[in-house]
Amino acid sequence: MRTIVLLLAALALAGCDQNMEVQPRYGEYARAPLFRSSSARNPPAGAVARDALAKEKEATQRPALTADLLERGRQRFTIFCSPCHGAGGDGNGRIVQRGMPHPTSYHDPRLVAADDQHFFDVITDGYGAMYSYASRIPSRDRWAIVAYIRALQLSRRASLDDVPPDQRARLESMP
Ligand code: HEC
Repeated sequence: MRTIVLLLAALALAGCDQNMEVQPRYGEYARAPLFRSSSARNPPAGAVARDALAKEKEATQRPALTADLLERGRQRFTIFCSPCHGAGGDGNGRIVQRGMPHPTSYHDPRLVAADDQHFFDVITDGYGAMYSYASRIPSRDRWAIVAYIRALQLSRRASLDDVPPDQRARLESMP
């Protein structure tokens, strides 16, 4: 009998140990009777996210074009964009081969003529079926990717005249 009482007491006391483990709260997007709608609330009109202004300012500061920046762009492009746009930018990446809508090739005359800002804005805001990368790619890296896309485009349009004269001979002597 004594054992049973002790056992029950132990069980009952264990039940009291709530600490802060159990806290009543809403799950994400759960129904919230208090608001008569979802627990995810719209920010009040005119609210500005804490770092929004700083990020906006940063986006206008384009880094200088260097070989390091291009290399960073190549790496970020390969990670974030090539799964859909393909390594060469034709828009035939693995995900597209498996059903994602086919994006316009970067070598399409419209995109060759588009300015750098268009590419930056597409990465920032998304475009049609493509979602925004603003939360994943900081603006400096977005500019690096834009620079690399420009290099990809140039790689198909460049002529011998674009090569510095002192290096042309070396190119021409290649088999
Ligand atoms: C999950 C697939 C996917 C990924 C990853 C992706 N895109 Fe896209 N992108 C698309 C699709 C699909 C479109 C076409 C959207 C449409 O027309 O509705 C597109 C369109 C574009 C366009 C063309 C916009 C125009 O004017 O036609 C650009 C530029 C672009 N993406 C750049 C990028 C860059 C840069 C990255 C990497 C940071 C990237 N995309 C990553 C799927 C993707």
